[in-house]
Parts: sequence; structure tokens; C-alpha cells
Amino acid sequence: MLKIASSTATLGATVTGVHLNALSESEWRTIEDAFHEHAVLIFPRADLTEDEHIAFSRRFGPLERTLSKRTERQEISLLSNVGADGGVAKPDDKLGLFLKGNRYWHTDSSFKKVGAKVSLLRALEVPETGGDTEWADMRAAWDALDPATQARLDGLTAVHSYAYSQGQVGGTTLLTRREWVDLPPVEHPVVRTHPATGRRSLYVGRHASHIVGMDEAEGRVLLRQLTDDACRPPRIFRHHWHDGDIAAWDNRCVLHRGHPWPFDQRRVMRRTTVAGDGDNPWVIEEGAEAARA
Ligand code: OGA
Ligand code: MN
Repeated sequence: MLKIASSTATLGATVTGVHLNALSESEWRTIEDAFHEHAVLIFPRADLTEDEHIAFSRRFGPLERTLSKRTERQEISLLSNVGADGGVAKPDDKLGLFLKGNRYWHTDSSFKKVGAKVSLLRALEVPETGGDTEWADMRAAWDALDPATQARLDGLTAVHSYAYSQGQVGGTTLLTRREWVDLPPVEHPVVRTHPATGRRSLYVGRHASHIVGMDEAEGRVLLRQLTDDACRPPRIFRHHWHDGDIAAWDNRCVLHRGHPWPFDQRRVMRRTTVAGDGDNPWVIEEGAEAARA
């Protein structure tokens, strides 16, 4: 029997008693409703194959192309500290610095013209200790602001830049020059409204560099302060991974970050990203995979 157990935080729930590779329509509707309510769903030991992971992800919408060409499939982003040569990344080598950025609160692809809708992260190999992922509820964060602050933020636009956020951690060298050309700074509203629930939420995180029309340093302080205040109990939810787990989160209304783990241990995760709505140059057109094959 499909069961949804909410966390004690304002976001997050655990879904059990269902096979994600053989969902009935009513099970899918229950999951989608729970996703809109809780914004983060954990499917413990879902044990999906890569094809099943992609197929389940597509229920949320068309997928987004991965940023760097570290995988054979454009649907899959590799979140792994194991390099192509099989060696484990060091904290300060190219791959180590590239991954380091994930330790800071962010929302996926906010540095792209259209931010990601949903991310679905699948654990293949997890370290013995550490490496948890944590999410923060930006709907509850908005609700907690006083009306004067809400009024001040409403209508502000932030500049999001991957060169800025990766520059902060020294992690700019994994992408090629050509890949950087496709990632100029972009603008997004600081407050957004969820299309399915109508709830308002803050849209901030580490890719947000500054505020349009505001002194750059001042905007940066404001963005950092908003994130710091937002990402506190009861608005945070944390998951300790086991092999085969899947987590799905709503990038439109939650931030997330990864916790560190002993750097000599392997951690291999693979992620699909559901493309945000609108004119999105990163969306994988239907049939593109077949056409490529
Ligand atoms: C991600 C991410 C954090 C982690 O998959 O987008 O930021 O814990 N992951 O791996
Ligand atoms: Mn991420």
C-alpha cells in the first residue's frame, strides 16, 4: 500500500509501498499531490535502473540537458567524486572543486535562463558516514517574513551567474570555454509563485550574485541574509542516503545542499533534471534521444 509519511519539518515526506517503475495513474496522482504539498519526496531503496529513473522523471515533464559532458546520456548529471580514471577526487583538484559548490545552499540551474523544475537524485554508492543532503523550504521562509519585508522584496530581480557561484569555490575549470559561452548571467525574480499551488516563495541561493538596480555589495549582503534566515528549523529537512534511494525535490520552492563526507570514500549519485516551464533552450526535445542513437 502506498504510504506517505510527512517529516516534522515544513517540507519533506517519505514514500513507501510503491514500485516507481510500475505506477498506476492513481498512484502517480497521489505522488504528484504529495510532491506539491511537501516539495521534497524520498523514495527509500527505490532501486531503479537508469532507464527507469529517466522514465519516472519524465512524469514530471521534459528533461533538461546536463551541464557538462561527463556522462554518455544528456539526461544524466553525474554527482560523483570518482573521476574517469577511477580515482577519487581530492578536495582541491578540478573535480573536487567542481563538487564543492554543492555544499552551499542553491537551487538547480538557477544560473540558466529557465531554472530547473524538479531534480531526481539517485544514490548508487554512498559513503559510510556523512554525505547527507539537506533541503530548505522557501515557501515557509516567505510566509515567515513580516509584511514590510515582503513588500520590499516583491518585484526585486536577482542576477544569477554560474561564473560567480563557481568562482566563489574556485570550481570553474571543469567546464570548457565553449560550455561557459552558453552560461551568461541571467535574471530571475526574488519572489516567485508556484504554478500548481499558488504559494509564494523566495528564489535565492548561491548562484544569485546581486540585485538589479541595487549596489552590488548591498544586494549580495541582502541575498546572503535572506538565505541564512530562511535555512533554519523548522524549514529544513535532511536525508541520510542508502544505496538505491531516490530523492525528488521542487527547485522552484526549495534550496538544497550536500554535506561533506570523508574525501577518500566514494560517493556516486546520478541525477535527472526536469526542465523548467517556458522558452527553455536546455530542454531535451521529445525524440531527441532516438534521433541521436
Ligand atoms: C544535486 C546536489 C547535493 C548532494 O544533486 O543537485 O546539489 O548531496 N546534490 O549530492
Ligand atoms: Mn544541486
